[in-house]
Amino acid sequence: MLPWALLFFAATPAAVLDEAGSRACASCHAEIYRKYSATGMARSSGKTGSGAYTESFEHGRFGDPASGAGYRVRADYLLEFARAASGVQGERKLEYFIGSGAAGRSYLHSVDGFLFQAPVSYYSQTAKWDVSPGYQRQRSIHLSRPIETACLLCHASRLQPVAGTQNRFGTPPFLEGGVSCERCHGPGKQHVLKGGAGSIVNPAKLDAARRDSVCAQCHLTGEARIARATSGVYRPGELLSGYSLSFVWEGRPSPDMKVTSHFEKLWQSRCKQASGDRLWCGSCHDPHAQPAPAQRVAYYGSRCAQCHDAAVCRRGEDCAGCHMPKNRVVDVEHTVYTDHAIPRAARSPDAALSGERRLVSFWKTPVEDRDLGMAYAVVAARESGFQDRALELLRKADDVPALSQLAQIYDRLGDEEKAMALCERILRAEPTQAAAAINLGTYRMQRGRAREAMRLWEDALTRNPALSAASVNLAVAQIRAGAAAAASATLVKALEYEPDHEMARRLLKDLN
Ligand code: HEC
Ligand code: HEC
Ligand code: HEC
Ligand code: HEC
Ligand code: HEC
Ligand code: HEC
Ligand code: HEC
Repeated sequence: MLPWALLFFAATPAAVLDEAGSRACASCHAEIYRKYSATGMARSSGKTGSGAYTESFEHGRFGDPASGAGYRVRADYLLEFARAASGVQGERKLEYFIGSGAAGRSYLHSVDGFLFQAPVSYYSQTAKWDVSPGYQRQRSIHLSRPIETACLLCHASRLQPVAGTQNRFGTPPFLEGGVSCERCHGPGKQHVLKGGAGSIVNPAKLDAARRDSVCAQCHLTGEARIARATSGVYRPGELLSGYSLSFVWEGRPSPDMKVTSHFEKLWQSRCKQASGDRLWCGSCHDPHAQPAPAQRVAYYGSRCAQCHDAAVCRRGEDCAGCHMPKNRVVDVEHTVYTDHAIPRAARSPDAALSGERRLVSFWKTPVEDRDLGMAYAVVAARESGFQDRALELLRKADDVPALSQLAQIYDRLGDEEKAMALCERILRAEPTQAAAAINLGTYRMQRGRAREAMRLWEDALTRNPALSAASVNLAVAQIRAGAAAAASATLVKALEYEPDHEMARRLLKDLN
């Protein structure tokens, strides 16, 4: 049985026509544009080699003990890879970067317009190249992990996805690198055309929930963040909870620091709990500018002074230095982030958590069974004990993402008939769902319906030709059907995308 390898993927929202792009704002808001362009947010993605930041290539050559692979990144962003055990070697161009470099950078490479994450990343705080977060346990060189929509939605603006595919994009894949003005202010074409008279959102003038929604788009994840079964895309000025919900454990602040946990942490602070809506991200951060290092202490000190009398603590000027210490995050190696829980003193590790845990909406809003079920399903995929709860809550759901979660759960429970029926339903509603197609193909194959299975796998490969599970299955079916030449072509193609795929290499060797 093939594991349900691929999660449901959400269609990537394309750039909208009523957006003008940040450059269009520069003529009238020149000072804001200039300041903002220097922030990490504005520079959070782009074409490699562009922009002011440059990686050090001094440690561009490194080995990965887990896989036995050797990598070298050259100053022209050519990634060379080799693994002695398989004899595989080759190169890829790192075409786009994700991350300004304040903490580090990940990279994207492409084959035929399909975008993939690179197995190597740059870690600024140690000035070293190493395997990317999430690649530490790879046993081979993994080049075909598709770029996730969520990644680009937080780090880039005005995306250009190709409809009907999982990870094919136009050139360039996004019209603007980093977080554009309109991600916080909403589409501004009318405002621009009318010389500033057309409406535009000012987050500071929104009610607290709508204001906080603007930053929470990208700075809040929680234990599970799920897309709701609504169509449409969040726009500044709306409530984010209409489109996506983040869940946290009730009454149990997560002791871990994660990259996107600023909201969770700040909400745990005494400052926030005692000041309510008055305190928000904008209380301490100018969204358009970062203080220069020399002004950092004075700048953040002045932010604390909005609420704290100087006499409250005479231990020094650097308030944040003591009360917002920098800690390691659990989800990225070699990186530290500021603790937004603003503790009185350095924390002792939290006591072990025991007993029953319950997920609740971060915003404390009432939630529908379907949304809570989706959150438990996310948690169930990484730890045991929550599957039954997810199943119970999702049973009546009928949208494609929920049906995909249900199909995965039935598959794990070994209830193939139910999983199969769900895959059929999913594909009737959305023929582009490659994960459902691959798994339905497997069920069909096992039931002697090889021709249908092969058609499903061929179709999945048009959505993303690097889906090794589909190519290997297809090749095996082709071999069984006596079509050795077709099988060989399938495998050669699969190896273009994932050259170190052991099964594909073995099958091809046996054919030749
Ligand atoms: C042709 C000049 C012009 C361009 C181009 C322009 N603006 Fe403005 N903008 C203005 C003027 C003038 C005001 C002040 C309007 C007022 O105060 O009523 C303004 C006000 C604003 C405000 C404050 C609104 C409020 O209610 O407080 C924001 C936010 C804003 N602009 C964002 C943008 C963004 C984002 C862009 C680019 C998409 C942009 N502007 C492009 C002229 C322009
Ligand atoms: C579209 C996604 C997005 C939105 C919306 C967003 N951020 Fe960010 N923010 C990011 C990303 C991505 C980074 C990391 C940038 C990097 O270094 O690559 C970041 C970094 C930051 C930083 C660190 C300094 C910097 O500029 O890199 C601050 C502070 C920050 N954001 C505050 C805010 C505040 C306040 C809001 C709401 C007013 C907000 N952000 C809205 C995505 C977003
Ligand atoms: C929910 C929004 C979100 C998603 C999804 C997301 N990121 Fe981020 N990422 C952020 C924010 C916000 C920061 C900045 C965190 C901070 O500075 O504390 C960040 C930081 C980073 C950094 C360090 C940037 C720096 O400051 O130098 C890298 C690299 C990065 N992300 C890569 C990725 C990649 C690759 C993916 C997809 C696999 C991804 N991120 C998915 C929001 C997101
Ligand atoms: C990360 C979110 C974010 C981004 C990106 C962003 N802004 Fe803003 N902007 C805000 C917030 C929040 C405020 C309200 C600040 C306040 O008054 O506390 C604001 C206020 C403004 C205002 C009106 C108040 C003022 O300071 O004059 C203008 C004009 C403006 N932004 C223009 C821009 C332009 C132009 C860009 C792109 C170059 C941009 N903003 C990018 C969040 C953002
Ligand atoms: C919007 C107002 C506001 C801002 C801004 C603010 N605080 Fe607070 N903070 C509070 C309030 C209110 C309390 C609770 C005071 C009490 O309980 O007597 C508090 C409590 C604290 C505490 C005690 C925490 C505890 O667990 O008992 C510390 C430490 C603290 N703040 C530090 C800071 C620092 C450092 C900054 C700046 C980086 C800051 N605060 C910014 C409002 C704020
Ligand atoms: C009480 C003040 C305060 C508030 C409120 C606050 N921050 Fe921060 N933030 C800081 C300080 C201080 C730093 C460290 C800056 C530095 O070291 O240069 C920081 C750093 C950051 C960074 C850079 C990466 C990191 O973790 O070091 C991001 C991103 C960020 N804040 C996002 C947010 C978001 C999003 C919110 C709202 C949920 C928020 N902050 C609210 C004070 C605050
Ligand atoms: C050298 C580290 C250091 C610096 C710098 C520092 N603090 Fe503190 N702060 C502490 C310690 C330690 C405590 C006491 C913790 C305890 O006893 O529980 C404390 C206590 C506090 C409290 C709680 C006071 C009470 O009686 O409840 C507040 C509020 C606070 N600090 C705010 C600030 C502000 C604002 C600044 C900047 C002007 C600042 N601190 C600078 C270390 C520091």
